[in-house]
Amino acid sequence: MHTCNVAVVGATGLVGRKMVQVLEERQFPVGKLVLLASERSAGKEMKFGAQTMIVEKLGPSSFNNVNVALFSAGAAVSKEFAPHAVRSGALMIDNSSAFRMDDDVPLVVPEVNRKMIFHHKGIIANPNCSTIQMVVALKPLHDRWKIKRVVVSTYQSVTGAGQKGLSQLEAEVAKRPVAEAKFPHPIAFNVLPHVDVFLDDGYSREEQKMIRETKKIMGDETIKVTATCTRVPVWGGHSEAVNVEFERPFELNEIRDTLALAPGLVVLDDPANAKYPMPITARDRDEVFVGRLRRDDSVGNGLNMWVVADNLRKGAATNAVQIAEEWLKGE
Ligand SMILES: NC(=O)c1ccc[n+]([C@@H]2O[C@H](COP(=O)([O-])OP(=O)(O)OC[C@H]3O[C@@H](n4cnc5c(N)ncnc54)[C@H](OP(=O)(O)O)[C@@H]3O)[C@@H](O)[C@H]2O)c1
Repeated sequence: MHTCNVAVVGATGLVGRKMVQVLEERQFPVGKLVLLASERSAGKEMKFGAQTMIVEKLGPSSFNNVNVALFSAGAAVSKEFAPHAVRSGALMIDNSSAFRMDDDVPLVVPEVNRKMIFHHKGIIANPNCSTIQMVVALKPLHDRWKIKRVVVSTYQSVTGAGQKGLSQLEAEVAKRPVAEAKFPHPIAFNVLPHVDVFLDDGYSREEQKMIRETKKIMGDETIKVTATCTRVPVWGGHSEAVNVEFERPFELNEIRDTLALAPGLVVLDDPANAKYPMPITARDRDEVFVGRLRRDDSVGNGLNMWVVADNLRKGAATNAVQIAEEWLKGE
C-alpha cells in the first residue's frame, strides 16, 4: 500500500486536532483524509497542510474506502461506530477506554509491545495517556531488573480532560465565568485528587486504568501497581512520581544508561543545575522525559523517578499514529 486512506473521528477535539497535525508532521502516507465529528462541528473548516478540509458528520457509511480509522471521540462513540469501521475493512485505532481490556483487542505502545499490533481483529486500543508514558520508562528497566511493584502518583494536565477542561482553567485564570464546568471544583490554583469517576473500592477509574493497563501492555500480571491520580492546573503535559521496586539489585548509573538507550526516552537528570523534566520541557515533543533518578533506600532494590510527557502527543495522537506507521511497515 503506497498511500493509506485515513479517517479521524473526533477531529475537532484536542486529541483529534493533534492527530491531524501529527499525521502531517510525520509525513504519514495519507491518501484520502476524512475528518469526522458530531453534527455540532459538521461543515467547519480545518487545515491539513495547505489543504482546507471540511469536517463531516460521523455516520455508518463514513468508513467506505478507509484503511485506518483513528477514533478519539469518547467510549460511547467508539462502541457505536466500531462495527461500521471494522465491517468496512478499516483498522480502528481507538483512543477511548471502550475496548482496552478486551482479551481480543491489543493494547499497544510501540516501544513496549510492537508485536501485538499484528494480533488484532480489526481494533487496536491506544492506552490511557498516563499509562503510556509510564510504561515507556518501565519497560527497559523491567527487561533487565524485573519489576515487583510500582507506586505512582500523577500530576495531570487539564488538557487530559479535553477542550472543556482547558476552557475551565482558561476562564478561571482570566476571572471570567465558566461556561460549562468540567471539574467538580475550581482547578485554577488548586489540585484535585480526582481524575475520572470513583469506583466502589475508593480508587478512581483513572487509577484503575493505570493498574490494569500497565500489566496488560507489559504482558506481566505479576507486577504489582498502585496509583494516585491528580489533576493540576497545567496547560499541557502530565508528570508522574514513579517508585519502583525491582527483584534484582541495580547500580544507579546502569539505570541511567539503560533509560538513555531505550527508544522514545530522553534522560534529563542534573538536578544540581535545575535540569529535570517539566511539562514545559515535554511540550510539543513526542518523547517521554525521565529525571530525578535516585535510590529509594526504604525498600530493597528501590528506585524513584520523575516521568513527564505531552499527553496529547505521546499520550494520545503520536502513539496512535505510531501504531498505524508500524502496522503499515508490517511484521
Ligand atoms: N486529552 C487527552 O490527553 C487524551 C489522552 C488519551 C485519550 N484521550 C481520549 O480521546 C478522546 C477525545 O478526547 P479529547 O481530549 O480530544 O476530547 P474533546 O476535546 O472534548 O473532543 C471530543 C471530540 O469528540 C467529538 N464528538 C463528541 N461526540 C461525538 C459524536 N456523538 N459523534 C462524533 N463525534 C463526537 C467532538 O466533536 P464536536 O466538535 O462535534 O463536539 C470532538 O471532536 C476521549 O475518549 C479521551 O478519553 C484523551
